[in-house]
Amino acid sequence: THITVNEKTRMVDISAMKRAISSRTCVLVASAPQFPHGIIDPVQDVAQLGLKYGLPVHVDCCLGGFLLPFMEKAGFPLPTFDFRVPGVTSISADTHKYGFAPKGSSVVMYRNKELRSRQFFVQPDWPGGMYGSPTFSGSRPGSIVAACWATLMHFGEDGYIDSTKKIISSTRYIANRLKSVPEIFIFGEPLVSVVGIGSNVFNIYRLFEALVEKGWNLNSLQFPASLHLCVTLLHTKTGVADKFVLDIEDSIKEIMKNPNAECIGAGAIYGFAQGIPDRSLINDVAEAFLNACYTTKSPASSNGALAVLNGDAAKV
Ligand SMILES: Cc1ncc(COP(=O)(O)O)c(C=O)c1O
Repeated sequence: THITVNEKTRMVDISAMKRAISSRTCVLVASAPQFPHGIIDPVQDVAQLGLKYGLPVHVDCCLGGFLLPFMEKAGFPLPTFDFRVPGVTSISADTHKYGFAPKGSSVVMYRNKELRSRQFFVQPDWPGGMYGSPTFSGSRPGSIVAACWATLMHFGEDGYIDSTKKIISSTRYIANRLKSVPEIFIFGEPLVSVVGIGSNVFNIYRLFEALVEKGWNLNSLQFPASLHLCVTLLHTKTGVADKFVLDIEDSIKEIMKNPNAECIGAGAIYGFAQGIPDRSLINDVAEAFLNACYTTKSPASSNGALAVLNGDAAKV
């Protein structure tokens, strides 16, 4: 069940989470931070609920896994979000995000061995031999594990503290500058690396389109309509943050010449898709898109067989 977030802070609504707990609840999840607007949930409150109702509490630290643990040493202390909080039972951290390791590597940590055992798959009676796999997937590439380990060793704690310092200070600089642009607003208090932007004055997807045109790689978001910048090391280079703010200010000047103009391009599709009440139609479109990604031109002899490729989840 997706629990609603507070409209202003964008943090999970703890009373709503409490009300949603039933005999069918198997785990509570908190984000540190969540993807859309980069907001950290009140992990300690979620953990308290977990303790009270005897439920495991997972902290999704996929995005923040290589930022949050270094923030204190980087000079940006935060409320504790990890195993120091009683009640937190597992944490995920993506090495392939701010750990800078190759995609396909990630980490899930458990408070104890008993919980970790639950992720194993064991089949002692298989005619192919006694089968035991530590993860959901069977065969996995050792090359990615090796490259991930090499990356961790290359950066080391000092390297991650340094990247955290640069990324957090750039994010907060951008967020603070944008807070004084009257036509837009920032979602909640972005403490980590994502700045979510909305507007009550014009269609925010027009700003998205204008910025993409200027070469920025942003994410458009929905419910509510918004966009975000996910700050990486590239954005911490001299002048980049200022250029981003300047491009936003220039784009808004242009937009405000006709604030009610319609949005065109991908932004228009996003705006339109949000307004369709039958969400199954969006599912159908997404499936058609993914099927198109998998479809190859069939050689005349293969009778229309489809090739299946391994790929990333695609954002439609
Ligand atoms: C907060 C959060 N959790 C989980 C994920 C999923 O990560 P992946 O795409 O590596 O499965 C993401 C991806 O951006 C994320 O931001």
